Amino acid sequence: MIENEYIIRLEKKEDYREVENLVRESFWNVYRPGCSEHYVLHILRDDIAFVKELDFVMEKDGRIIGQNVFMKTIIEVDDKRDVPVLTMGPICIISELKRKGYGKALLDYSLEKAKAMGFGAVLFEGNIGFYGKCGFDYASKFGIKYHDLPEDADSSFFLCKELIVGYLNNVKGVYQTPKAYYVKDEAVWDFDKSFPYKEKLKLPGQIFN
Ligand SMILES: CC(C)(COP(=O)(O)OP(=O)(O)OC[C@H]1O[C@@H](n2cnc3c(N)ncnc32)[C@H](O)[C@@H]1OP(=O)(O)O)[C@@H](O)C(=O)NCCC(=O)NCCS
Repeated sequence: MIENEYIIRLEKKEDYREVENLVRESFWNVYRPGCSEHYVLHILRDDIAFVKELDFVMEKDGRIIGQNVFMKTIIEVDDKRDVPVLTMGPICIISELKRKGYGKALLDYSLEKAKAMGFGAVLFEGNIGFYGKCGFDYASKFGIKYHDLPEDADSSFFLCKELIVGYLNNVKGVYQTPKAYYVKDEAVWDFDKSFPYKEKLKLPGQIFN
């Protein structure tokens, strides 16, 4: 039971470093040796597509234990329309409090706020095991393809949730990841040097090695 044990609020400038450190700690060695998400977040905040009103931190006992951010992007529809949607992340919860319901609470709250702002759908890359609990489904079920993915490739990593029911009716097309998510490895490791040393490990289950 985690009710009333936390608050969710907008991130402030003075939180930036603490939040980047949290992201680094939470993602470290999970998907690759080390991680890039703390640098990605650092870059996203200054991007035109970044949604400042949806830049959330979760606080418990006076310290930040989670964060989530959203970016605006588009689906390039087969009939040449561009349909505006949101993408999301990084999202994380501090390592010692994972799997206690905080991630779901933060995500549900963020999605409610995104819906209240009038956004129609959220699409991104993730694990259906977690995001399925918050109403996400495979984007392929909505007829949305992931950019640059061959027809026969596994797209089960690519997820979607309509915030406005029916928003993606008659929308068949290709989702585009905002450019700001693509960062160079050298830039990541350069940025990473400003944090305390952590060992990069090759571990089973990592997606990128
Ligand atoms: C992913 C993350 C944000 C989830 O937050 P969390 O607080 O740990 O998740 P919750 O406790 O709210 O999970 C709710 C349910 O989702 C499912 N779930 C959570 N994490 C999961 C995972 N990694 N794989 C499969 N299912 C998962 C579980 O069913 C869980 O309920 P259970 O623990 O009772 O089985 C958090 O684990 C995290 O920060 N991970 C590292 C960074 C990361 O991977 N971010 C997401 C990138 S797409």
